[in-house]
Amino acid sequence: MTNKTATLSIPGSEGNQEIQLPIHEGTMGPDVVDVGKLTGHGAFTFDPGFTSTASCESKITFIDGEKGVLLHRGYPIEQLAEHSDYLETCYLLMHGELPNAGQKKAFVDMVTNHTMVHEQIRTFYNGFRRDAHPMAIMCGVVGALSAFYHDSTDISDPYHREVAAFRLIAKMPTLAAMSYKFSIGQPFMYPRNDLDYSANFLHMMFGNPCEPSVISPTLARAMDRIFLLHADHEQNASTSTVRLAGSSLANPFACIAAGIAALWGPSHGGANEAVVKMLDDIGDVSRIDEFVAKAKDKNDPFRLMGFGHRVYKNFDPRANVMKQAADEVLAELGIQDENLEIAKRLEEIALSDPYFIEKKLYPNVDFYSGIILKALGIPTSMFTVIFAVGRTVGWIAHWNEMIAESSRIGRPRQLYTGYSTRDFVPVGKR
Ligand code: CMC
Repeated sequence: MTNKTATLSIPGSEGNQEIQLPIHEGTMGPDVVDVGKLTGHGAFTFDPGFTSTASCESKITFIDGEKGVLLHRGYPIEQLAEHSDYLETCYLLMHGELPNAGQKKAFVDMVTNHTMVHEQIRTFYNGFRRDAHPMAIMCGVVGALSAFYHDSTDISDPYHREVAAFRLIAKMPTLAAMSYKFSIGQPFMYPRNDLDYSANFLHMMFGNPCEPSVISPTLARAMDRIFLLHADHEQNASTSTVRLAGSSLANPFACIAAGIAALWGPSHGGANEAVVKMLDDIGDVSRIDEFVAKAKDKNDPFRLMGFGHRVYKNFDPRANVMKQAADEVLAELGIQDENLEIAKRLEEIALSDPYFIEKKLYPNVDFYSGIILKALGIPTSMFTVIFAVGRTVGWIAHWNEMIAESSRIGRPRQLYTGYSTRDFVPVGKR
């Protein structure tokens, strides 16, 4: 809190009302005007889409959208992507500090200990149609975890919260791989606790019970980097959804299921799937101009998927790491992907086009992630599920931060523009 205040003048019947609003200063980033006391003066703020609203105080992740900076607990994402791994980054997000060797081992052991799911959950999958979208399955199955793990749903108990967090981080890859195996009619694979987090995920995705899984360390490392790059992104739509659901004191499994639902849409996590579909539709470098023209046409709803971001008005730093990773993975696997060529050319053209320059539309994290996932053999319908697996720790870290601060229930107000009071009309007179 600073001593600075902002003055708001609201016109009223007895002249203007001058209201002093406190200004909060963060460690980094713009000052925040506290409008919490406005309601006592008979007014609300109006900010659809929350473009100018900080919904909470947080110490987890910082983004400077103008400069293209992303920090987790102060550490730049580029450094974490190069020197850390997904589970270490999970520890960092949840605990605020990087673990020492002993802390890291204990954390990894605990996650590894929770990789299996209740055997009855296998039966639960059979209720879905084979052609169900894996995100539809994930919304249902993750929400249903609270029906299986009653012993970790008392959110007032820190031990319950911790166990629920470990369960979610550990079981998400298992549930995700099961949703894929179910869709292709293959048996579910039990987790292998001798493998690391990402290698085990690839084993559960691509292994079969008839022969031992052989997991390439290159692919496992690439998978791990994708999880890490998606681990958190401050108050995005799905994280805000988790916080809002959690503010009603709902159990963590239900809250994370709400986050998965919010992530699914193509404006958010669903964009990685949409990018690959778009690149397939473009099909050839010669058709890029046609698609760029469509994206710029006000009368055409088409948008370049993987471009633009609510906060970044510069390069999304995760996209830079992804682009480099895509090059490395494709080179190591000896894959020539036409889509990568189209993507690079599309990026060049869009970045030199006045429409994209003026609107500050740069490639975001989803632009290149799909190409890597495709190279790893992940089917398109699983892309957003992979995003959900990686983001689970971010959702949990924010949920925990919110519960620890015992915040009040989230309850926005509205600008009502419907009818004013009117009398009921009996059906015969309408
Ligand atoms: N292609 C063409 N025009 C665009 C695009 C795009 N991808 N994105 C925004 N614009 C235009 C938009 O038409 C609008 O123009 P005007 O001012 O003339 O009406 C202007 O840029 C501002 O757009 P907006 O929709 O008001 O911006 P927003 O901050 O509400 O939306 C966004 C951000 C990410 C939803 C949007 O840029 C978009 O739809 N991008 C494509 C989908 C995508 O890649 N989503 C992944 C986001 S990053 C990962 C994640 O969050 O999950």
